[in-house]
Amino acid sequence: MAASDRASAQTPSSWDNETCLGCHGEPGLSAELPSGEILDLTVDEDQWHDSLHAAWDLKCILCHTEITAIPHDSPPSSDRREYATQKSEGCVVCHREQEVFDDGVHAQAREEGNTAAAVCSDCHDAHYVSDPPLSRVEIPETCRTCHSEIYDRYEESVHGGALSDGNPDVPTCTDCHGVHDIEGPSRGPFHLYSPAICATCHADEELMSEYGIRTDVFDTYVADFHGRTITLFQEITPDQDTNAPVCVSCHGVHDIQPADEEGSKVAQANLQATCQQCHPNADVAFPEAWMSHYSASADEWPVVYWVRLFYRILIPVVIGAMLVYVAIDLLGRWRRRKEVQHA
Ligand code: HEC
Ligand code: HEC
Ligand code: HEC
Ligand code: HEC
Ligand code: HEC
Ligand code: HEC
Ligand code: HEC
Ligand code: HEC
Ligand code: HEC
Repeated sequence: MAASDRASAQTPSSWDNETCLGCHGEPGLSAELPSGEILDLTVDEDQWHDSLHAAWDLKCILCHTEITAIPHDSPPSSDRREYATQKSEGCVVCHREQEVFDDGVHAQAREEGNTAAAVCSDCHDAHYVSDPPLSRVEIPETCRTCHSEIYDRYEESVHGGALSDGNPDVPTCTDCHGVHDIEGPSRGPFHLYSPAICATCHADEELMSEYGIRTDVFDTYVADFHGRTITLFQEITPDQDTNAPVCVSCHGVHDIQPADEEGSKVAQANLQATCQQCHPNADVAFPEAWMSHYSASADEWPVVYWVRLFYRILIPVVIGAMLVYVAIDLLGRWRRRKEVQHA
């Protein structure tokens, strides 16, 4: 019996997946959309059976509520993009947790009319879902379909290069941006708060000791005039732009390299240009006026160290002496007043 005959003998709610796969499991089945684009209608049976959705016995018609008769009508969408967007709307019926997606940059961009922004089925294949859905290495590959330039830069960076080599300690796209609630610099204070993202790993003593990378980079940054300005902005006006630098202003964003790498923005040869982004008059000697990530010590920045130490001793001594003086003076006055009263 042909699949269509078998199907037409049943009601929609009793259509099983084998009925659908009887036609859709065949290679080469396709339909033309009003836009002229071709929709490939083949579902790979083996891949479907291996998927988590199949393992949970999900029925095709749970997601394809538009299919109400066999043979059925043309797809209800005018083009490929509209089809993927409409079909993805049904995912949150079961995946409530992923509704945070509505707050992310992609949903916001779609609301602003940018239909190219990612929907569920761009990152997850609706039919071939696995657990975990995407491995760490697959994540940047997924973002690459739309953010290819960023991917290329990331791939060459100290982080991306290590990820490709199988290192799980380095950040992939979603460690910095979030997964379903993705944030970016053009909407909200992401830029301002970005040092906290770097700090999750770079202030972690145990993690960084494996790579011989110092963990005082965050503390020294916050203690620096640059970091102090940013901290003040976070506290007072989190929505306002500031031109004070965050980590990525000096290190680059997706193309971060170690300082001893030739192309690094913080390599000696490139440092002047990096400072000039904001200090246009910076000369070759300008970076030397700044202590980079180093805390002053008797060895590394002796002048700064001794001056600071001097003030650290001098100021308490001066203030202390003044307080003692004031106290003695007050005591003297009080005694004198008492003597006058008794007299
Ligand atoms: C007799 C073969 C046959 C069977 C059985 C069949 N389909 Fe189809 N299906 C087609 C053909 C042909 C098209 C293209 C229709 C067109 O372009 O007019 C199609 C289109 C589709 C589409 C894309 C268009 C749309 O409306 O979204 C989906 C999804 C789909 N079928 C799902 C299913 C599901 C789910 C089942 C099982 C309940 C099923 N099909 C059973 C032949 C079949
Ligand atoms: C978990 C929900 C879900 C299940 C279950 C599901 N589909 Fe789909 N299906 C989708 C989504 C979403 C799309 C649109 C994907 C896109 O175009 O990005 C789609 C698209 C399709 C298409 C159009 C071609 C394409 O790939 O875009 C066909 C045909 C189809 N599904 C058939 C089936 C059949 C047959 C089954 C059962 C074996 C099935 N689907 C099970 C969600 C589902
Ligand atoms: C009818 C309910 C239902 C719908 C609709 C549905 N799913 Fe699922 N999905 C499940 C179930 C059940 C599981 C397996 C249990 C779990 O992991 O929560 C699952 C698992 C998943 C997983 C793997 C989760 C993990 O923990 O590894 C992903 C990814 C996923 N679904 C994506 C989608 C996408 C994308 C859509 C829309 C195209 C969709 N689902 C629609 C029921 C559904
Ligand atoms: C921009 C890409 C992207 C989009 C869009 C996206 N996801 Fe995900 N999703 C991911 C990544 C990456 C993971 C893996 C997270 C991990 O393992 O750390 C994931 C994980 C999941 C999981 C497993 C549980 C979890 O939260 O880790 C489910 C279920 C899921 N997604 C469903 C959805 C649904 C439903 C939508 C649409 C509302 C959606 N996703 C949209 C990238 C995306
Ligand atoms: C180490 C953390 C980190 C990783 C890993 C990372 N990003 Fe970013 N990304 C940022 C920061 C921080 C910004 C904001 C830069 C700014 O404030 O100017 C940004 C900006 C962006 C932007 C918007 C600005 C632009 O350049 O167009 C996009 C899109 C983006 N990232 C996508 C990605 C993708 C895709 C990946 C993975 C291939 C990725 N990011 C990996 C931290 C990261
Ligand atoms: C289907 C295409 C597509 C996929 C896949 C995709 N994106 Fe996007 N993304 C977009 C579009 C379109 C925008 C909106 C550009 C805009 O208006 O800012 C965007 C915006 C962003 C932004 C905000 C940029 C800003 O300037 O604030 C970030 C961050 C981002 N995406 C990260 C990711 C990450 C991480 C992944 C992978 C997990 C990913 N995207 C996957 C299309 C996609
Ligand atoms: C998920 C953890 C993680 C996050 C988040 C992270 N990094 Fe890294 N980073 C690493 C690891 C691990 C290495 C060492 C990689 C290697 O050498 O193979 C590294 C290397 C570096 C290096 C090279 C250091 C050197 O000299 O060898 C710099 C610079 C750097 N990261 C800056 C940043 C900045 C800036 C941010 C925030 C935008 C950031 N990282 C976010 C884990 C992280
Ligand atoms: C004003 C520019 C500037 C800012 C802002 C800045 N850095 Fe650096 N960073 C440098 C320079 C220059 C070097 C190389 C010299 C050195 O090691 O101090 C460096 C070195 C590093 C190293 C390598 C340390 C090592 O042990 O080899 C890491 C990691 C790092 N920075 C992370 C960060 C993080 C995280 C932030 C933000 C919290 C940040 N940087 C902010 C300029 C900057
Ligand atoms: C993204 C912009 C930006 C970058 C890049 C930047 N700075 Fe600054 N810098 C500032 C701002 C803004 C201030 C004023 C901060 C304050 O005092 O509130 C400042 C202040 C300073 C000061 C304090 C004295 C003064 O002129 O006010 C020094 C020294 C300094 N920066 C050195 C550097 C060096 C060295 C580099 C390169 C390694 C650098 N900066 C990169 C924005 C930047």
